[in-house]
Amino acid sequence: MAKRIQFSRTGGPEVLEYVDFEPAAPQAGEVRIENRAIGLNFIDIYFRNGLYPAPSLPSSLGIEGAGVVEAVGEGVTHVAVGDRVAYAQGPLGAYAQLHVLPAEKVVKLPEDISFEIAAASMLKGLTVQYLLRQTFPLEGGETILFHAAAGGVGSIACQWAKALNVKVIGTVGSAEKAELAKRNGAWATINYREENVAERVRELTDGAMVPVVYDSVGKDTFITSLDCLAPRGLMVSFGNASGAVEGVNIGILNQKGSLYLTRPSLHGYTDTRERLEEMSLDLFDLLESGKVKVDIAQRFDLADAGKAQEALAARRTTGSTILIP
Ligand SMILES: NC(=O)c1ccc[n+]([C@@H]2O[C@H](COP(=O)([O-])OP(=O)(O)OC[C@H]3O[C@@H](n4cnc5c(N)ncnc54)[C@H](OP(=O)(O)O)[C@@H]3O)[C@@H](O)[C@H]2O)c1
Repeated sequence: MAKRIQFSRTGGPEVLEYVDFEPAAPQAGEVRIENRAIGLNFIDIYFRNGLYPAPSLPSSLGIEGAGVVEAVGEGVTHVAVGDRVAYAQGPLGAYAQLHVLPAEKVVKLPEDISFEIAAASMLKGLTVQYLLRQTFPLEGGETILFHAAAGGVGSIACQWAKALNVKVIGTVGSAEKAELAKRNGAWATINYREENVAERVRELTDGAMVPVVYDSVGKDTFITSLDCLAPRGLMVSFGNASGAVEGVNIGILNQKGSLYLTRPSLHGYTDTRERLEEMSLDLFDLLESGKVKVDIAQRFDLADAGKAQEALAARRTTGSTILIP
């Protein structure tokens, strides 16, 4: 028997239960990981509250973790029992002491990257990798707008962009978060609860506006983000922290300057083993170089996953949050 978090109906954090379960044996092509640290992500909230439907109920939860391979199924060759590994994809179930998933979703962890740092950065760091290096491949010298700059993804993005010689204008919800984003390398910050974002972007860019906006806030910021783009700029809408963006009339892209719009996901960028390996190497290089430091600002026991999610949804967290099994 092992412990995990599960939910039998969608809803608030109160639907999460900490229960005993019988971990499955890994089937062909699968591995079983003994988690040492688990990543907390906004997507976990979307599954819990039903915005993203879980495949079935009761459902386990969580897609990011780091630990030791404890058992392997037939045909698994690239990892073996005892290997230190991390993952940020695959079936729900990372919120558990033991998690079974396809071996192809797992990467080996370099010795100098701890389980906690890996669990705090795999999903968020790989996301930043594709956003800054693939969705809009930054070359250096650009000024960009990145929303929620003091959050988990945002904290890594500010540092990675700085390493690429890119100026980040980061939006934040408080003065403390502005300080944090600046410490992480943001060139300027805007408190989007108090300031007019498009006007401030106009001032900061001498009227040029920005070639790309990375927007994970969603509903509340969508239109403002379009207003911050230079003609033919790219709107990258990659999250729903304030609610999903719905009912967009694509004519608005014409009205606001022949804009481009994309709605990417990590899954869509790590759809092959080769891509996952390549992107992980890029992330691990950045972590090992010290150019990106992962701030684990909150740690919760796995049993308290509901409290952790409550803090994330209420905008009380900064940087990354991990759960300890
Ligand atoms: N598409 C992908 O591949 C992908 C992958 C990873 C993450 N994401 C998305 O990226 C975003 C960040 O993820 P994360 O786990 O690192 O979370 P996070 O940024 O640590 O937390 C979300 C932040 O969003 C801001 N926010 C603005 N309005 C909000 C609202 N109404 N409710 C809650 N938060 C609000 C808050 O910062 P302020 O207080 O500063 O406003 C909050 O701290 C999420 O939307 C997530 O879904 C997408």
